Amino acid sequence: MMSPMLSGVCLSLLAAPGLAFVGTPFIAQQVRHAPAPTSRSVTGSSRPRASTRMVATPDKVGTGVKRNENFAKLKAGYLFPGIAKRRNAYLEANPDCRPIISLGIGDTTQPIPPHILSGLVGGAKTLGTKEGYTGYGAEQGKADIREKISEKLYNGLIKPDEVFVSDGAKCDIGRLQMMFGSGVVSAVQDPSYPVYVDTSVMVGQTGEVNEETMQYDNIVYMPCKPSNDFFPDLKALPHADVIYFCSPNNPTGAVATREQLEALVAHANAKGSIVVFDAAYAPFIRTPGVPKSIFEIEGSRTCCIEVNSFSKYAGFTGARLGWTVIPNEVKFSDGTPVRNDFNRVMTTAFNGASNIVQSGGMTCLDDEGMAEIDTLMDYYLENAKILKEGIESCGFKSHGGKDAPYVYVDLEGKASWDVFSEILEKAQVVTIPGAGFGPGGEGFLRLSAFAPRESCVEAVERLRAVLA
Ligand code: MLT
Repeated sequence: MMSPMLSGVCLSLLAAPGLAFVGTPFIAQQVRHAPAPTSRSVTGSSRPRASTRMVATPDKVGTGVKRNENFAKLKAGYLFPGIAKRRNAYLEANPDCRPIISLGIGDTTQPIPPHILSGLVGGAKTLGTKEGYTGYGAEQGKADIREKISEKLYNGLIKPDEVFVSDGAKCDIGRLQMMFGSGVVSAVQDPSYPVYVDTSVMVGQTGEVNEETMQYDNIVYMPCKPSNDFFPDLKALPHADVIYFCSPNNPTGAVATREQLEALVAHANAKGSIVVFDAAYAPFIRTPGVPKSIFEIEGSRTCCIEVNSFSKYAGFTGARLGWTVIPNEVKFSDGTPVRNDFNRVMTTAFNGASNIVQSGGMTCLDDEGMAEIDTLMDYYLENAKILKEGIESCGFKSHGGKDAPYVYVDLEGKASWDVFSEILEKAQVVTIPGAGFGPGGEGFLRLSAFAPRESCVEAVERLRAVLA
């Protein structure tokens, strides 16, 4: 039974002016609208006052919280879960099919090598000791790993305090977008890793997608295709504040030459843009003279940020460890070092990478760990070679697959989602349709070389049977 006091409150609420109830049965919701016009309180302080009203809805569809309208602009779910959904739907409809082979998402499959693993195990064990136990660490990463990244991967070209250690490059791209906010124009290679575009939409940098071109309004799409050697015509580009550039490229497998990267850096410096260089696939580079970092390029310290990750280097896709480098000289137009604001994001919205995994990162960077990484890269590069030769033997042209773990297949005008479905249905092989990486990827298919060797060999046999 309702207490007299409570029923009094309810009655007075019901009687309050402005409250209306319509229809029965109903669910009454209290909806707060803030900020409302500013009111001055008795204490004289001025603050927004929330207005309260009751609405009654015959069928409750949700809370009173307005959806972030930017999310409604996103055309589809994120690419890779979407692919997994199609694969699972196929499997559900065909439960007796032979095992599906995934040449889809670029997820590593080979075990973490012993020396690198010893770092992870050692890091976990240390937490079980009184002397070694640590709680929260520095949000920017431990000093030792920042130093080692600077020394071993950048040859001292960048300083340890310019390195932010994190839980991965994808997460850092999201946090960089949080820092840049809605007021910038981003440019992306087309096709590109979907995180750049999707996060640009989420933070409100874009308008709606154009249903004809499948491009978002207010994003600069930089066409990258075989005819321009997968490098955009920088002179023809409209202005962009932030340029996302990935090399070795996901999905095309193209690798930018030193001259191309010099042109990119010169362009950014001349136009006052910032390049976010995604180097997650750098250790796959085998061609001599091809830069593995944007910081090998003169002039990059004033305009470039680099995101990177141990995911593909060392099989850390599940362990999670990455880093972002922001040189002290990269500044916003008001002179604020970009590094300072990124530091604010990291200290506020991140609590530091796992101490266990940072210990694994340290062993990655020992000479023994680096040698293990090289062996892993060789394994995946051999897979890429098998896939490339295999798909070419079916009569297709392909790109990439030499200094990169992705083979980019030219479908000669065929719709990539159709070919994806055909291959899944007839060969039980998962691939990624180029259109999933942006309109510029239509007519292409990406094959990932991260599957186990025997799966790559069998996938080629199956593809030959279906496509040759
Ligand atoms: C991909 O398959 O493109 C990527 O590996 C996915 C990722 O790294 O987030």
